[in-house]
Amino acid sequence: MKTIEVHASRSYSIHIASGLLDSAGELIRPLVSGSRAVVVSGEHVFRLYGMPLCSALERAGFQTLGYMHRSGEQNKTFANYERLLERLSFLDMGRSDLIVALGGGVTGDLAGFAAATYQRGMRFVQVPTSLLAMVDSSVGGKTAVNLNSWKNQVGCFYQPALVLCDPALLRTLPEREYRCGCAEVIKYAVLGDADFFAMLERKPISAQEEEVLARCIAMKRDIVERDEFDCGERQLLNLGHSFGHAVESCSRNAVAHGEAVAIGMAMIARAAAAKGILPDAERDRILALLYENGLPVDCAYSADALWRAMLKDKKRSGDAINLIVPERIGRCRIVKTPLAELEDWLRLGGAS
Ligand SMILES: NC(=O)c1ccc[n+]([C@@H]2O[C@H](COP(=O)([O-])OP(=O)(O)OC[C@H]3O[C@@H](n4cnc5c(N)ncnc54)[C@H](O)[C@@H]3O)[C@@H](O)[C@H]2O)c1
Ligand SMILES: [Zn+2]
Repeated sequence: MKTIEVHASRSYSIHIASGLLDSAGELIRPLVSGSRAVVVSGEHVFRLYGMPLCSALERAGFQTLGYMHRSGEQNKTFANYERLLERLSFLDMGRSDLIVALGGGVTGDLAGFAAATYQRGMRFVQVPTSLLAMVDSSVGGKTAVNLNSWKNQVGCFYQPALVLCDPALLRTLPEREYRCGCAEVIKYAVLGDADFFAMLERKPISAQEEEVLARCIAMKRDIVERDEFDCGERQLLNLGHSFGHAVESCSRNAVAHGEAVAIGMAMIARAAAAKGILPDAERDRILALLYENGLPVDCAYSADALWRAMLKDKKRSGDAINLIVPERIGRCRIVKTPLAELEDWLRLGGAS
């Protein structure tokens, strides 16, 4: 088992090992004084892993209750958050009892926000089941729900008491979801670790999952420890996301988030190379690694359409947007870019 310690506003461990789900009870028990646990999950994931998790918790003395929400981003809503709170209240859950989020980022964000706010904070454990949730959303304590079409508009920072990453759970993840997670993995390598990038070039992610998870989680941990509340350095994690969000929005979500991030990373790599910031050979390696992982690298939208979508980016500050620009594989810089110059970046990135 690999363990990564996080020292943020709360200190906690992230354990990574295949088969960890079976040991969930014994690992969680010492951290929780209450005796009851609510396992929150999407319908599909609950059917796959809900019972094994509940059994593991019961073996450690917990009384367990399952709570299923509808799967999918469109269900990360205020209404579903309120429904979950009502359920917790109906069950008479107390602050020392436990909520376990078993699922992808949607479940983690929804259950995390409920755990953070119900009676001003319950014990909370994450058991991520998607690749994206393992390397990204379960690390760092961001919780949220969407408000109408505004993603993650309401939420808070709330670090869990423990995160259990079991790569065996990824065997049932649909292939497209897996590939989307690969885009986030590649993002970490471009962002901060040239050796890790070379490791991904040598062997597929699926053939070295535990090591890949550990590297990504450690990298996110380092950034979160330095900037837990997203005031500066944490925005580096947005690599590929500014253009990616615009692609997602122009496609009306037909392009999935991870695919859009891949396109966004390819675009910023092309633009950075065209501007002489990133060597051409490194741009080519980034494009090749994305392509080898089954991810798209070409942009089907015009610079004008993308630019208009970027005006709605909630990370925009006034008339500028911070682009995360690779200088080399393993090193990126934050470039404050006036809106007037964005179209140029987008065209150099491959927009028509
Ligand atoms: N909190 C953060 O820091 C943070 C960071 C990045 C993303 N997010 C959020 O995460 C969400 C995206 O997360 P996601 O990509 O995991 O989406 P998701 O939670 O919707 O899961 C993707 C799909 O995979 C299915 N699934 C998950 N695990 C499975 C498994 N093991 N076997 C079979 N099916 C499985 C789910 O049912 C769902 O249909 C977004 O809402 C995003 O805003 C949060
Ligand atoms: Zn992302």
